[in-house]
Parts: sequence; structure tokens; C-alpha cells
Amino acid sequence: MLPEALVCLLISAIVHAQQLSINAVASLNTQTLPSPPSFSIPSNDNQLTISVALCTNSNTAPRFFLSNASTTKNPGSGGGEGVFEIALQNGHGNWTGLFENGILAVESNGAQVSFEIGVSDSGPIHEVLNELPFFGDTTSNQALLFSPPFATPSIPPPTYPNYTLPTASLAFTETPPSSPPNYTLVLSPTSSSSLASGPQTGCFLSSQNTSGTIANQSLWLRDEEGWRIQWLLEGLSPSTNYTAYAIQNGTKVAGPIYFATKSASFPCPLVASLPFCPGVSHAVPLPAPPTGNTIYDTTNLPTNLTSTLLTYLTNFTVTLTTHACGRDRYSPLVDCGDCQREYRRWLCAVSFSRCGEPSVGSPSAFTGVPATPTQTGISALKSLLPPIPGMGGGPNQNQGQQQVLSALLPQTTQRNPILPQMDYTQLLPCLETCTSVDRACPPFLQFQCPTRKFNAAASYGVGYVDGADGDEGEGLVGGAQDRWGNVWCHLG
Ligand SMILES: *[C@@H]1O[C@H](CO)[C@@H](O)[C@H](O)[C@H]1NC(C)=O
Ligand SMILES: *[C@@H]1O[C@H](CO)[C@@H](O)[C@H](O)[C@H]1NC(C)=O
Ligand SMILES: *[C@@H]1O[C@H](CO)[C@@H](O)[C@H](O)[C@H]1NC(C)=O
Ligand SMILES: *[C@@H]1O[C@H](CO)[C@@H](O)[C@H](O)[C@H]1NC(C)=O
Ligand SMILES: *[C@@H]1O[C@H](CO)[C@@H](O)[C@H](O)[C@H]1NC(C)=O
Ligand SMILES: *[C@@H]1O[C@H](CO)[C@@H](O)[C@H](O)[C@H]1NC(C)=O
Ligand SMILES: *[C@@H]1O[C@H](CO)[C@@H](O)[C@H](O)[C@H]1NC(C)=O
Ligand SMILES: *[C@@H]1O[C@H](CO)[C@@H](O)[C@H](O)[C@H]1NC(C)=O
Ligand SMILES: *[C@@H]1O[C@H](CO)[C@@H](O)[C@H](O)[C@H]1NC(C)=O
Ligand SMILES: *[C@@H]1O[C@H](CO)[C@@H](O)[C@H](O)[C@H]1NC(C)=O
Repeated sequence: MLPEALVCLLISAIVHAQQLSINAVASLNTQTLPSPPSFSIPSNDNQLTISVALCTNSNTAPRFFLSNASTTKNPGSGGGEGVFEIALQNGHGNWTGLFENGILAVESNGAQVSFEIGVSDSGPIHEVLNELPFFGDTTSNQALLFSPPFATPSIPPPTYPNYTLPTASLAFTETPPSSPPNYTLVLSPTSSSSLASGPQTGCFLSSQNTSGTIANQSLWLRDEEGWRIQWLLEGLSPSTNYTAYAIQNGTKVAGPIYFATKSASFPCPLVASLPFCPGVSHAVPLPAPPTGNTIYDTTNLPTNLTSTLLTYLTNFTVTLTTHACGRDRYSPLVDCGDCQREYRRWLCAVSFSRCGEPSVGSPSAFTGVPATPTQTGISALKSLLPPIPGMGGGPNQNQGQQQVLSALLPQTTQRNPILPQMDYTQLLPCLETCTSVDRACPPFLQFQCPTRKFNAAASYGVGYVDGADGDEGEGLVGGAQDRWGNVWCHLG
């Protein structure tokens, strides 16, 4: 038998252990921990996930131990029945299990850090999200960035006989979600590395200085993937590589992504928030926006540009619906809605040419001269070293020796005659923007893309997304852009 006094002491320690709440976050500090440094976990019939996030950059980290066996009152590095350590990775840790009289104990090991503990019955409160923020485009001092998507719209396929497609002027008729997730944007120059140096947690990243100012934040449905928060950032520095994160609810981290601002002489303004071209969020060769505006949107875009595009789209939709969208579908895989959507994406991408610029790090990394009309194959590779004999001929085998170039082409005339004449460097549309119209639309429309074997490379970025022989996703880089800030071609 234990002496009575000791029993009382033990009981009082247990009774007074601070209780954590379910579906809540506790903000704590190793220097103000209770004694003993432990917390009781509420009993629950279902599994609970305990998550931990460090909020301070420190060389020494505390350790976190859990016990879900009622016999172990003081879990710790000494081990014991039902004792588990929550392993930390980049400042995050989590453990999921059944709890009845559970205890969480902190061994601070001399570390002086603040941290958070989350208890949840529906997955970890603290985590790194799989989805990344989306990079729209930049000018010398502005950027358009998007949160990961949420609230995916349900777009029912149109059915016979009431075959209604979105009107030309409005690609989506969905109303914005009433309670969107709470995303905050954090960014800083990559070179200052203050973000990368610490724990990759919501509380640490949110506590760091963020660059630029958010000139506008709005909900936007770019594409079928779902609604996003759209941020227009201003006050950035030219020719600078930035690191950005989107943090949901202060605890879930999306990112990092990297992107570069353009040089100070970059001539093109941003265009965004067009209901008829929801995917447009890039720099377009237009004069500076009217006084009082920093970007173009529907309120200030030249009307001749809008009206021409809407006429094309209306005529296309009329032709499509009068011929193809009856009871007999022209394909088991795609319908008229898909065709109209892909045509709209292509029309928007080619009507609103995208301005680009070779990256600061490799100013010569662009194709330089237009491909001749008869040029064949991929124009995206530049040999850095002569091929090593016996290494095989395909681009993938030689990747170590070759640099992938963006589909940048200097322009002196505009493909869209409504755009004003100006000198700029165009980031060509990806050929896939065209081939997806080809795939989604009925053959009688006779929509034709240039072929890879002939003149495609003169007006499209070829071989980045799909392979040279058209294999989907088998191209040099398998996408139009990546999280490191490379933009290879314009997908629209
Ligand atoms: C503790 O958690 C483990 C793993 O989830 C589980 O197998 C065990 O039954 C739990 N013990 C108690 C007492 O709930
Ligand atoms: C939970 O922790 C494990 C390691 O213990 C880690 O592999 C996993 O990614 C974590 N899950 C989340 C959502 O953070
Ligand atoms: C056809 O569908 C549209 C949109 O779904 C709806 O607004 C319209 O009332 C329908 N018309 C008829 C005749 O059912
Ligand atoms: C944020 O910036 C201010 C002023 O430049 C500086 O004093 C402060 O130390 C910075 N904070 C962090 C966390 O970098
Ligand atoms: C965000 O936090 C609030 C309150 O802390 C919570 O009610 C909500 O469910 C959380 N949202 C998400 C998406 O986790
Ligand atoms: C969003 O989250 C941040 C950080 O957790 C918080 O400061 C802010 O009040 C929240 N905003 C809303 C509208 O919930
Ligand atoms: C932000 O952008 C949206 C979309 O273009 C627009 O409707 C809204 O008026 C803008 N808000 C401000 C404060 O400029
Ligand atoms: C659209 O159709 C109208 C009427 O058929 C025609 O007058 C006009 O030229 C067409 N516009 C375009 C851009 O094809
Ligand atoms: C389109 O409108 C702009 C300004 O409203 C004008 O400067 C331009 O000349 C017009 N372009 C054409 C081809 O009419
Ligand atoms: C930005 O910095 C990251 C990390 O150093 C690097 O991987 C990336 O290539 C850079 N991006 C650009 C566009 O310079």
C-alpha cells in the first residue's frame, strides 16, 4: 500500500491535469507548462487524432508522449504500457487511436518554444495539405495567386430535350459557397529563407513577416476543380523569386510554391476575373489599365475585345447545339457541355495572348526565333552538353544533359488583331489547349489543330504536357507549370 499522503498527491495531480477539448486547439509554451507537464485527453467512443505543431524556430524541440492505458499516469521517454511518442516532422506530429483516460505529456528538454496541440474526432487539425496553391501570373510588382480548390461545383450534364449550355457571357452560373474555408496567404522572398528555415506549420509561418499587400481578395471559380480564394498582391519587388503558402484555419498548410516576379521593364498588365473566360489570370499585351485601376477585369476591358470573343463563342454554341446535342450523343465519353467548355478555354487562351519573359536565372532560356512552318518535333529542348554516346536518343534518357526551355517567342504582331500592336515576348499556348477541343468536340465542327509533324511549334508549345507522339502526360515536364515557378507553356 502507498502512504495515504502520496495517494492524495497522485490523485490531485490527476484530477487537476488540464483537460484538452475535442475539436479545439490549445496554444501552449514550454515555459508555462503545468506541473506535471501533462494534459488529460477527453474520453471518446471513437478514435481521436492528437496533432502537434511547433510555432517557434528552435534547435531543440520538445518531445510529446501519449498514453491511452489508464495504468500509465506519466507517459514519457521512460516508456511503459500503452505509451506512444508523437514523432515530429518539420514541426508537425500526429497520433490517432482510442482514448479512455488518455494523457499527453510534454518533455521540454530545455527547449523554449511555443506549440499547439489539437484534438479532433475527424482527422488531424494540424497537417500539410496535399493540394498546392495555384500560381496565376506576375508583373514586375504584382502577383495573382489562388488557394487550393474547395466546394467543387456540381455541373449536371445537359440532357435532351432541354439542352441548355452556359451562355457565352457566363461560363459558370454557380453561386459562391456561403462559408468558404478561412485561408491566409503568407509569402516572402525565397532568398530571405525565413519561411523555409523554421517549422512548416501554420502557427510558425503565420507569425512571419509577409511581403506585399493584398490589393483584392475574392472567391473565384476558375475551372471545374472548384472555388478558390483569388489574391491580387501588389508592392512586390521586380525579378525576385518568392515562396508562398496558403494556410487554412491557421493550422493546415498548403505549399510551399515558388514564383518569380518579372523584370522592371515588363510591359504587360494582368487580366483576371472575367466571367466569360474564368481561367484568364495572366499578363496580356495591352496598354496600362485606365487610371485608378491596377489590372484589367470585366469593368475596364476594351469592349471590342470582349464583344468579338463573345460573338465567336455564341456562334460556336449555336452551331454546336443545333447539330450535335440531340438525343444521339456523338460520343459516349464527352458531351456538348465538354466541347463548349474546351472551346471556351482555347478561345480565351488564344484571344488573350500571354506575355512572358525568360527567367532571371537563365536569360537565354527561350526559343528565340520562331520555328519555321515546316519545323518538326519538339522545340523545347536545348542541349547543354553534347549527347553522351550510348545513352539512348529519347529526351527522357538525356534529361541530365538538356535544359527544358519555355515556349517563349518574341512577337511584333498580334495574333488577335483586336489587341494593340506592341513588342513583347509571348508564352505560347500549350498544344494540349487545342487538342482537348479536338477530343471533346464532334467531328462535323471541323475544329483542327496544327499537327506536331508540320507547323504546330510555330504557334503552340509542343511536347511539354503530352509526349511528342501525343501520349497524354508523357511530355518533357508533364504539365504546363510546376510548383518551383517554371511556366513552360500557357494552358489557359
Ligand atoms: C490504445 O490505442 C491502441 C492503438 O489505437 C489500441 O489498440 C488500444 O486498444 C488502446 N487502448 C485503450 C485502453 O484504449
Ligand atoms: C501523421 O504522422 C505520420 C508519422 O507518424 C506521418 O507520416 C503522416 O504524414 C502524418 N499525417 C498528417 C496528416 O500529418
Ligand atoms: C431547361 O433547363 C434550364 C436550366 O437547367 C431551366 O432554367 C429551364 O427552365 C428548363 N426549361 C424547360 C422548358 O424545362
Ligand atoms: C518583421 O519585420 C520587422 C520590420 O522590418 C522586423 O523588425 C521584425 O523582426 C520582422 N519579424 C520577423 C518575424 O521576421
Ligand atoms: C476552422 O476552424 C473553425 C473553428 O476553429 C471550425 O469550426 C471549422 O470547422 C474549421 N474548418 C476547417 C475546414 O477545418
Ligand atoms: C481566419 O483565421 C485566422 C488565423 O487563424 C484568424 O485570425 C481569423 O480571425 C480567421 N478569420 C475568420 C473570418 O474566421
Ligand atoms: C475584387 O475583385 C472582385 C472580382 O473582380 C471585384 O468584384 C471586387 O469589386 C474587387 N474588390 C475591390 C475592393 O476592388
Ligand atoms: C456569327 O454569326 C453571325 C450570324 O450568323 C454572323 O453574321 C457573324 O459574322 C458571325 N461572327 C463570327 C465571328 O463568326
Ligand atoms: C479596340 O478598342 C480600343 C480602345 O477602346 C482601341 O484603341 C482599338 O483601336 C480598338 N481596336 C480595334 C481593332 O478596333
Ligand atoms: C525559386 O527558388 C526555388 C528554391 O530555391 C528554386 O527551386 C526555383 O527554381 C526558383 N524559381 C525561379 C523561377 O527562379
